[in-house]
Amino acid sequence: MTKRIRKAVFPVAGLGTRFLPATKSVPKEMMTVVDRPVLQHVVDEAREAGIEHFIFITGRNKGVIEDHFDIAYELEETLQRRGKLKEWEALKADLPAAGATSFTRQQEPLGLGHAVWCAREIVGDEPFAVLLPDMVTMASEQGRCLAQCVDAYEKHGGNIIAVEEVASDETHQYGVVAIGKDSGHTFEITGMVEKPPKGTAPSNLIISGRYILGPEIFSILEKGEKGAGGEIQLTDGMKILAKSQSFHGVRFDGKTYDCGAKLGFLAANIAFGLANPNLAPLLLAELKKLTSGL
Ligand code: G1P
Repeated sequence: MTKRIRKAVFPVAGLGTRFLPATKSVPKEMMTVVDRPVLQHVVDEAREAGIEHFIFITGRNKGVIEDHFDIAYELEETLQRRGKLKEWEALKADLPAAGATSFTRQQEPLGLGHAVWCAREIVGDEPFAVLLPDMVTMASEQGRCLAQCVDAYEKHGGNIIAVEEVASDETHQYGVVAIGKDSGHTFEITGMVEKPPKGTAPSNLIISGRYILGPEIFSILEKGEKGAGGEIQLTDGMKILAKSQSFHGVRFDGKTYDCGAKLGFLAANIAFGLANPNLAPLLLAELKKLTSGL
């Protein structure tokens, strides 16, 4: 019997240096894909996978994230007074339940492994999810990415990592997993490496930003050992945990957009715009105008 995955960690302390000057005073997680902040898309994905408690690892200048997940009293009062009940209902539907969010600060940018370790007291002794907020996913027919990971967890237990195939010349920018002969939708991970030098990656399957991990990861991350880029890497911690626990990969069959980079962010806006029935015909007409004669 596996334990239910109730808590998710969102490391949102990143500075967003790939997206300056936009991210000088606006946290990158609050930039919008169509009409929802990037982070709201990721929280929606977690909620659809059954997550009940949302843990944000924040940093300085990220206060608006906390405000976003709180009641905006003046705004809601004004919407009601003006009869904009649909908008008011939509805000209420997005709001996490009272007490269902926790915020803690990472204090120093020491790496993803360190950010996740900062959640140890709030997560406690149960398996939990991690969702990297740069990565915005669009569901496939099989559901959204974290829901697919939870399915795999219920079947296999242990630890789960969502992976995605990229071109060989891109693997050095990511964590990469090694696989044995079983390479279906869900497969056993036989190794992993963070940011492998070009030409050395064990496969084309990158760690794409959704994880389910056992709480034993915390005592490993506690040691604070530094890896690629001089940072405390989550991948290195998982590699150690893999010596005593199973790790399965899930090939997510929807689409993932890296919204921490300009191209991924623009592509996400177009893809989610085209998936919105009210917006799609108009957006398509604009795109046709823009691209005709290119
Ligand atoms: C992090 C992880 C890496 C993963 C990537 C996905 O890297 O360390 O394993 O592949 O996110 O975006 P970062 O983007 O923080 O360099």
